[in-house]
Amino acid sequence: MKIQSKSLIFLCLAIVLLFGAPPAGAASLKPAHAEKAMVVSVHELGSKAGLDVLKAGGNAVDAAVATGFALAVVHPQAGNLGGGGFMLIRMADGSTHFLDYREKAPAAATRDMYLDAKGNVITDASLYGYKASGVPGSVAGMVMAQKRWGKLKLQQVMLPAILLAKNGFVLAYEDARDFKDKHLSDFPESKRLFQRNGDFYKQGETFKQPELARTLERIAADPSSFYKGALAHEIAVAVRKGGGLITEKDLADYEVKDREPVRGTYRGYEIIGAPPPSSGGIALIEALNILEGYDLKALGNRSAATIHLTAEAFRRAMFDRADFLGDPDFSKIPVPELLDKKYAAAWRESIDPDKSSLSKEIHRPAFKDLDQVAGLVDPHLRTEIREPMNTTHYSVVDAAGNAVSVTTTLNDSFGSHVTAEGLGFLLNDEMDDFAVKQGVPNTYGLIQGPANSIAAGKRPLSAMTPTIVLKDGKLFMVLGSPGGPRIITTVANILMGVVDFGLSIQEAVNAPRFHHQWLPDSIAMEKVGFSPDTIQLLSNKGHKLDFSGYWSDGECIAIDQKTGERLGGTDARNNGKAVGY
Ligand code: DON
Repeated sequence: MKIQSKSLIFLCLAIVLLFGAPPAGAASLKPAHAEKAMVVSVHELGSKAGLDVLKAGGNAVDAAVATGFALAVVHPQAGNLGGGGFMLIRMADGSTHFLDYREKAPAAATRDMYLDAKGNVITDASLYGYKASGVPGSVAGMVMAQKRWGKLKLQQVMLPAILLAKNGFVLAYEDARDFKDKHLSDFPESKRLFQRNGDFYKQGETFKQPELARTLERIAADPSSFYKGALAHEIAVAVRKGGGLITEKDLADYEVKDREPVRGTYRGYEIIGAPPPSSGGIALIEALNILEGYDLKALGNRSAATIHLTAEAFRRAMFDRADFLGDPDFSKIPVPELLDKKYAAAWRESIDPDKSSLSKEIHRPAFKDLDQVAGLVDPHLRTEIREPMNTTHYSVVDAAGNAVSVTTTLNDSFGSHVTAEGLGFLLNDEMDDFAVKQGVPNTYGLIQGPANSIAAGKRPLSAMTPTIVLKDGKLFMVLGSPGGPRIITTVANILMGVVDFGLSIQEAVNAPRFHHQWLPDSIAMEKVGFSPDTIQLLSNKGHKLDFSGYWSDGECIAIDQKTGERLGGTDARNNGKAVGY
């Protein structure tokens, strides 16, 4: 027996030596366990930056900010200084905050800025180049959070990121692959930094970013300079040179909003979610309110009956998203009505358990004044789903029970693909999250209404869904994911996995995902994990099924309600990592 186990160890060692260690985040069936604190993100070094700060005496907010800045270095596809995000905080005393540091349209932005003289959308104008960028909010948001709720000095919290930029980090296969992005080649500074002017980086090489290190050091020394001061001036000069709209005044006028999160309940669990300008919290709670009327547990985890009802709930919530949602500072959003359980019950009446609805024929039920808004967005429009790959989510819980859930983005992978000259960071293409023209789908196939048209100073509607779930008033889960519109349904899939089907947080993150966004009228399903029988039963109900696309990246935490242990659920679809102590 002894000899057998010795030779097994030797064999394993030989395999590791021959083929290298298994990648961080290799598929796991069990959650990572930690007694006191946990950080979960898409990148091991991002998670580790947060953990180091926790061990140095920081709290969950310090750790989240450390992870956020570190991801701007080690995951430039989505981690960022030049983008925006949402940070949902629940302190151990029960107080909650939702920091909205979403990008804002520059003052010179206009409703038709991406249309040609004939009123047609100019291809890619809202996606690539300086003109696609909104005024970035990430630096302001992270700095404000750290200052208000953190315990350490900003310099301390930013140190891991500065060192990672200065000393470099080893590129994974996925990084080397992503850095070959053809649009990065279109912009000389991006080509120089991420593609070594055509001598592409390879997996295993160390990637150093001296310009970014310098920018981070300058922010750490004087964070306000990013918005008012030398850095702001340099950003504005680079943007002007590149033909973009962001000015020094836009940067100076940028403000983070501390908003009230939206709240709902699902089968007795309390949900704290993202308010507008995110559609995430509202669409998530609305879908769950509809689903609460069904005994999904009895119908079975990912049975055709459950998938059908869930897709019908998603369809309706996403229909409402299209008509109603946008920046609450610019339009009146009927939040209480959309979150009303009676409204969900009215929607339920229209769901046939045996037959799929048709998106172009669903009618909003009469409820307060909501139904008067029906049909702002034309359901006959054709739309398809592209594969957006990046945005990133990270979750933190500390020893005291403070919890932070952050989703941040440049929108597309590498955002607008433009790197601010000399400053080492990419700028977002968040302007594409607006309805560039009424009735024309954005890059995620989303069609959106007048509430989300472009205007100066406005924030584009987002699907980012950082979420916190309570059980009996106590912290239970910290959830979130990237994935464009699939963010909302991914968070719903994970939450229901735990609540309805008794999965562990890791099993719920692993479980095969499905999605419906009203238009296109099909259920998007993950290729692996659904049986042919289930697929057949769904087709029999009349659903069109689509097996393409990117399946998000849930980076989540649950708390063991008996032991208080922090349980990390990281996504094996990517190279995520849960670390704790
Ligand atoms: O805010 C939003 O909804 C989008 N900009 C998010 C994009 C995204 O998740 C892309 N990645 N997977």
